[in-house]
Amino acid sequence: MAVPFVNLPSGDEMPIIGAGTWDLEGNTARESVRAALEAGYTHIDTAEGYMNEAEIGDVLTDYDREELFLTSKVLPSNLNYESVRDACDASLDRLGTDYLDLYLIHWPNPAISLRETLHAMEQLVNEGKVRNIGVSNFSVYQLSAAQHIANIPIAVNQIEYHPWLQRPELVEFCRETETIVEGAAPLARTEILSDDTVGELADKYDKSPAQIALRWAVEQEVVVIPKSTSTDHIRQNAALFDWELEEQDHQRLNEIDRNQPVYDTIKDWTGDVYGISP
Ligand SMILES: NC(=O)c1ccc[n+]([C@@H]2O[C@H](COP(=O)([O-])OP(=O)(O)OC[C@H]3O[C@@H](n4cnc5c(N)ncnc54)[C@H](OP(=O)(O)O)[C@@H]3O)[C@@H](O)[C@H]2O)c1
Repeated sequence: MAVPFVNLPSGDEMPIIGAGTWDLEGNTARESVRAALEAGYTHIDTAEGYMNEAEIGDVLTDYDREELFLTSKVLPSNLNYESVRDACDASLDRLGTDYLDLYLIHWPNPAISLRETLHAMEQLVNEGKVRNIGVSNFSVYQLSAAQHIANIPIAVNQIEYHPWLQRPELVEFCRETETIVEGAAPLARTEILSDDTVGELADKYDKSPAQIALRWAVEQEVVVIPKSTSTDHIRQNAALFDWELEEQDHQRLNEIDRNQPVYDTIKDWTGDVYGISP
């Protein structure tokens, strides 16, 4: 499987498809990640919050680290300077690696100084523990602030992205400012698979609905990280690069945006995820 790359500002190449791992625990996490690596994926997306880094680390021992692109994320409750450093060391330890290819702020946290967080992340880059830094679930305003504060590029904004949530302003801003868009929940946690247009195109191209949604995203240079526990789905999701959508079909998918998130719905800043509540 030859997977195209997107170029990060550091010059590193990020595979345009990776394996998502949210909500995978124990052996399910091990088996999913192993199936992805065996299918030719070289890019794995995890987070300290997913509680599966140790299981992923178990699998990685059988593979050449230099061939892999590993992303982890720091929780919004760990964004103080020392906490970022400790969280990164703990992630490295669990994953059994000396460095992360990409380290993301998992969610913005208005209770903790972004300057402090980014300073800590820059230090991690200087020390070689992290190769690229980025953010996740950041709005235009939040990303713009991060870009102004940071002394090194914000390489990636990982955001919910699929045909029912196309976020044109945010995506355009990322493009203009050379921050790569990474699509989390690119299958809308399966909701997009029942869309009529996606289904019609799946029939037309003799592909699965998942492949139609993923191909549409990668045609826009959006990095996708579908998650699956099925070896068949894992293989299918990466079989995207020897066919293409005709322009008018790509356009039909552009027109089914509903501005409808499946996960990025949290508006309560006092929720536990932010570590703000006492
Ligand atoms: N930064 C963030 O805050 C954030 C938030 C959400 C997600 N993410 C990242 O994005 C990754 C993907 O998002 P997600 O896990 O929420 O959802 P998703 O990838 O959109 O959807 C996963 C679901 O799709 C099914 N599926 C996968 N491939 C399929 C196929 N070819 N045909 C039919 N069904 C298929 C899976 O079931 P099977 O197991 O049966 O295949 C699973 O139920 C996460 O795992 C995580 O790494 C990040």
